[in-house]
Amino acid sequence: MGGRIGSGFRERESVLQRIDDHLWIAEDPLKLFGIDLGRRMTVIGLPDGGLFVHSPWEMTAERKRRLLELGHVRFIVASAGFHDLYLDQALAAFPQGEFHAIPSLFRRFSSRLKTFPLSDRAVSPWGEAIEQHVFWAGPFHSETVFFHRESRSLLLADLCFRLEDGGLLARFLGGGFGVYRRFSPTRDIRLWTLGQRRRLRASVDYVLEWPFTRIVPAHGELVLENGRTVFEAAFRWVRRKT
Ligand SMILES: [Fe+2]
Repeated sequence: MGGRIGSGFRERESVLQRIDDHLWIAEDPLKLFGIDLGRRMTVIGLPDGGLFVHSPWEMTAERKRRLLELGHVRFIVASAGFHDLYLDQALAAFPQGEFHAIPSLFRRFSSRLKTFPLSDRAVSPWGEAIEQHVFWAGPFHSETVFFHRESRSLLLADLCFRLEDGGLLARFLGGGFGVYRRFSPTRDIRLWTLGQRRRLRASVDYVLEWPFTRIVPAHGELVLENGRTVFEAAFRWVRRKT
């Protein structure tokens, strides 16, 4: 389905790689059950010079130095579960930054100053540069997704991804979950959203209102173009009238 796939994790840029105006990524290896899944931190430069840091992973001295060169870290965002493994490092490196997290992580860090729960808001703290939506994908998936207007990029954490790892296990498990060489939510979402498809469809439709071309997930490959078409195809089964 027409989307050019990005460099992914085989040509990792572990510090920060500029992929568009005011948009950078840093990638780390991540193996899950022996499958090369990779993980990606995304940084957006805001019009006022502040930085929005999405899914920070290991905050190495080099990464911190590069971020300090780029601007001041105003927002640190944990938009899905399990994206908290290295949060302590990022929060310690940028103690002045506001921390915005999904409700479960917000509760864990709520004693920290300048810590806020992510929600659907008409006016977000990052202004008009980035839009957001609390995406509903069943009771076990909590994620807020973002749209960076300037670069026309959709930022996801775990909602969808695409495995390129050609190993046997990746083929077997990735194939079973529907994400082997195919950009998709994992297939179990179909089960968890049974009976509430209308709610899921509303979230999919909300995202498809955004004119994005690129998709930057926190795992797997980047979708470099035709992102909206790729996303629409990934959720076509939801949008069919049921
Ligand atoms: Fe994740």
